[in-house]
Amino acid sequence: MDKSNSVSALIDQQPGRDEFLEDVIAGLNATPKQLPSKYLYDQRGSQLFDEICRLDEYYPTRCEDWIIKRYSHEMAEQIGPGVMLVEYGSGSSTKTEALLHALDRPAAYVPVDISRDHLGLTAKQLREKFPKIEVLPVCADFTQPFDLPQPRQDPTHTAVFFPGSTIGNFEVPEKLVMLQQIADLCGRGGGLLIGIDLQKDVEVLEAAYNDARGVTAEFNLNMLRHINRELASDFQLDEFDHRAVYDSEEHRIEISLVSSSQQKVSVSDQTFHIEKNEKILTEYSHKYTIGGFADIAAEVGLMLRRSWTDEQQRFAVLHFALLD
Ligand code: AVI
Repeated sequence: MDKSNSVSALIDQQPGRDEFLEDVIAGLNATPKQLPSKYLYDQRGSQLFDEICRLDEYYPTRCEDWIIKRYSHEMAEQIGPGVMLVEYGSGSSTKTEALLHALDRPAAYVPVDISRDHLGLTAKQLREKFPKIEVLPVCADFTQPFDLPQPRQDPTHTAVFFPGSTIGNFEVPEKLVMLQQIADLCGRGGGLLIGIDLQKDVEVLEAAYNDARGVTAEFNLNMLRHINRELASDFQLDEFDHRAVYDSEEHRIEISLVSSSQQKVSVSDQTFHIEKNEKILTEYSHKYTIGGFADIAAEVGLMLRRSWTDEQQRFAVLHFALLD
């Protein structure tokens, strides 16, 4: 059997329990307390995020899908033939399908995601839909450098596809490190196709992170469930409330869990005291202008080539090439 067509061919570079524990302890010792947003994504977290993407209030997915479907041929032309397309935070790879259809003889598609089970399933489904494209999943934390698989067909170049405005979940220093890693991974001749959420009315933004059905709240609280399961901690989920507000100076939604009582939490051999109304920051979601984001990317030599937006200019997809 061709090994690349089995789930066992999935390359696993997932962070270990030690790193998870270290991150959680460091975050709970920080002031204000914060937990890295990547831990929102265990299997249930990924499923809840998929559900968020289908919510009426959560416009980014719909807008980006529309942009990609509408302009996939222009995007494919920009990317060029024979590419190895590496998708960061691929999840269910739903946005990628239009692009995979439009690309000219891609050498391989490499979905990279931290959630192993989700990734394995997605890769299997994609292989059925795109039998001619080699699908080489990598289970890794894409905020850290990771190794790329070697496709059967030599790629002409590498391009990173980073949809969903996930870049917006990083703060400036980490964002620059990430963009630098992308530039290093692609090398000369490579490119980046990235989705960014644009600045807009506060009401629209806050509604997207405070949906009426409470799916975002459940997604946020699930981080504590994930930590309890993996690190044998004892967070009481019903003692925390979801909060998402827009900071119009920093141009970002700030998502946190607010303690509804004074409480103690044990993680490994440490005990943390949490005050009533104290918040644990779980995620930032930055909103950009196209020019502002192009300026950030230029710092690592990524040059803006093209941009596409939806009709209401809520979201944008940008293509960058590496400067020599
Ligand atoms: C993955 N990321 C871009 C989402 C966002 O909009 O910042 C994560 C999310 N958090 C709550 N809802 C969606």
